[in-house]
Amino acid sequence: MARKKVTIHTLQARKAAREPITMITAYDYPTALAVDQAGVDVILVGDSLGMVVLGYSNTLPVTMEEMLHHAKAVARANPSALLVGDLPFMAYQADLAEAVRNAGRFLKEAGMDAVKLEGGQEMVSTIEAIVRAGIPVMGHIGLTPQSLHKLGGYRLQGRTAVDARRLLEDALALEAAGCFAIVLEMVPEPVATAITQRLRIPTIGIGAGSGCDGQVLVLHDLLGLFDRFTPRFVKKYADLHREIVRAVQAYCEDVRSHRFPGPEHAFSMDPEELAAFQVMLEAFPAPTPVEESK
Ligand code: KIV
Repeated sequence: MARKKVTIHTLQARKAAREPITMITAYDYPTALAVDQAGVDVILVGDSLGMVVLGYSNTLPVTMEEMLHHAKAVARANPSALLVGDLPFMAYQADLAEAVRNAGRFLKEAGMDAVKLEGGQEMVSTIEAIVRAGIPVMGHIGLTPQSLHKLGGYRLQGRTAVDARRLLEDALALEAAGCFAIVLEMVPEPVATAITQRLRIPTIGIGAGSGCDGQVLVLHDLLGLFDRFTPRFVKKYADLHREIVRAVQAYCEDVRSHRFPGPEHAFSMDPEELAAFQVMLEAFPAPTPVEESK
């Protein structure tokens, strides 16, 4: 039986009931089917796809068209999970109207239920404009990978009391602007816990400890499918990269040793048709084998 569709109200109820929210990324149809079947609450079509699927060295080159392409594939799985499309770098920073239009494309063209964007108090007017257009917005503060160069690398954020206070103020500003949830990425556990306790909306942590209302991981990290590097906060539940290499090696060996395809993978023919075909073949002699040059 299909699960009941998860909405932003479901997430709010989870926070009230202190039931942890589960969120995971997915970027295509088969993984969306699988993670939804596993019962995840939120599927994020994250711009992390730029790194783990498209092979960019960071998320900055990802375009709206690339995001929509993947978001549409995820939506075709018709998941019960809440679907969140991640606004890529420069889709919302330069211009308010452009931000609203791009956020709208995720719902109108790609079948997403909500969008996510990165940034703190400087994003308040953008969030307000998108929410005014009827589009639910998930915030994202702490380590915001689209600001990689401003932050000087993928570093823990909110280490000092002053920085931690600024993160709390950012979170409160995002809540007041209308966000329905906020991702807290790579912040010390006590800071994430304090923010979570002071917000009415849920927090979803990644590298932010166990005090958040929910957790998110990048699917390819969890599955061990992205072998370039693994952040310390990731728990690997499988090693699919190794498993793929093993399976493809076995396939190559089977082909080279004539073990694949076997009779069970081949199709036979009606004996009378085959006999008639063999007679016809006499008019088509096989070419004489070309001698290998020495
Ligand atoms: O793009 C992404 O996958 C994300 C998560 C890490 C939260 O933003």
